[in-house]
Amino acid sequence: MYDNNPTLTGIGKEMDESKQGEVFFKETAGGAGRHFYIESYGCQMNFSDSEIVASILSEVGFQPTRNMEIADLILINTCSIREKAEETVRKRLRIFDKMKRNRPGTMVGVLGCMAERLKSKFLEEEKLVDMVIGPDSYRDLPNLVAGAEEGEKGVNVFLSREETYADISPLRLDGNGVTAFISIMRGCDNMCSFCVVPFTRGRERSRDCFSIVAEAKDLFERGYREVTLLGQNVDSYKWENPETGKVVTFAQLLEMVAHVHPDLRVRFSTSHPKDITDEVLHTMAKYENICKYIHLPMQSGNSRVLELMNRTYDREWYMDRVRAIYRIIPECAISSDIITGFCTETEAEHQDTLSMVEWASYSMSYMFFYSERPGTMAARKYEDDIPEEVKKRRLQEIVRLQNQVSFRHNQADIGKTFKVLIEGDSKKSDLEFKGRNTQNKMVVFPKLNGYQPGDYAWVKIKDATSATLIGEAVER
Ligand code: 5AD
Ligand code: SF4
Repeated sequence: MYDNNPTLTGIGKEMDESKQGEVFFKETAGGAGRHFYIESYGCQMNFSDSEIVASILSEVGFQPTRNMEIADLILINTCSIREKAEETVRKRLRIFDKMKRNRPGTMVGVLGCMAERLKSKFLEEEKLVDMVIGPDSYRDLPNLVAGAEEGEKGVNVFLSREETYADISPLRLDGNGVTAFISIMRGCDNMCSFCVVPFTRGRERSRDCFSIVAEAKDLFERGYREVTLLGQNVDSYKWENPETGKVVTFAQLLEMVAHVHPDLRVRFSTSHPKDITDEVLHTMAKYENICKYIHLPMQSGNSRVLELMNRTYDREWYMDRVRAIYRIIPECAISSDIITGFCTETEAEHQDTLSMVEWASYSMSYMFFYSERPGTMAARKYEDDIPEEVKKRRLQEIVRLQNQVSFRHNQADIGKTFKVLIEGDSKKSDLEFKGRNTQNKMVVFPKLNGYQPGDYAWVKIKDATSATLIGEAVER
């Protein structure tokens, strides 16, 4: 969890804060053999990667466990996006260290972005770690585990230009059995000056579209009713069929997944303002089962700051894309990522970000203050000159405004009826269901006989907070 993140976190459609560090688990009957325990931090891509790791480990006889105390292998899938994310991981490693003292022989591995960023330095700094494995090296995990069992420390942080894990069927861990993520591409070729991701996840590459559709079909057949297509920048998805030479774009991929079944909802994250095309918007408008929700990070509402951030669009361009979304898909909800206090940001420039929150009428935003990351273009070129208290005050102003805008957005839904995909019991009561509408808004309503998670219900909204719609199921 991040200090500077009052709501949720990660890339794109971020993980619920309550799930950060959540232990993935699906205990298999029997209990013989070795166990692994995995904690995940950061974005959905990381959570999705943990399911690939779980699949690779289960192939070599490891079973997942929720109980760290019985694990032979403890893994932590890490995030580097802000300093605070890395601090959280170091704290957890110290706790694992204590564990290890009680159970000598327990192996500890660091996966993900921090592994990639710090490489073998990790083994030097954190003596307790046995393995360091970057995001493109998970296939090598069984080898590294075998080495660790012999007392060897192992590092594999090789970044690939091809790896997409397309052939690996993720082991779905601790999910709700209704919604799942499908990774459609890896890496990032944008060079946003604040961002560590291009360094930790390498070059952008797209996954075979047929393996994506097959995964969506398989999930539907197993009862899942929603898939979220994941990528750092889904709009630049581009897969060339090696047999025909034909190129599949993101709009085409969306259409292929929408065709899997009309009852399978399709979401995606994250979109990039420079790349999102009208073609994608028209495809969304054409299919009822493609959800009317776009996560379109603005980062800043000021053109000079956007240029320093190397976002390659300006305020006008961003506004043009928002107008296009509301024109082509009038009921679409838009959310954003916002950074306050980027290098040299003035008060007037901060006001431009505030005015954009209002103008774009975001249903929600993920808001952060700038955290300098070693090695990034901003760290090399610009001074991190905005005092922390100013960054935090600006962040508070954005959060306050966004809360008002979200409240208004949700209040406008009172009296409307939405199709809601039931995900499970609400957090507060097992007499209520929770689910989402197409705009990705959380809807809570009293349970109805005969309904269960995975069903669609029509819900009339009676009340709303800035985070939740509250309603009652109605006949349709
Ligand atoms: N400092 C603060 N926020 C950042 N983000 C990415 N890098 C940084 C950083 N160095 C935010 C961006 C991005 C989201 C995933 O995290 O808003 O879209
Ligand atoms: Fe995800 Fe890595 Fe970025 Fe964190 S640093 S948000 S884990 S891609």
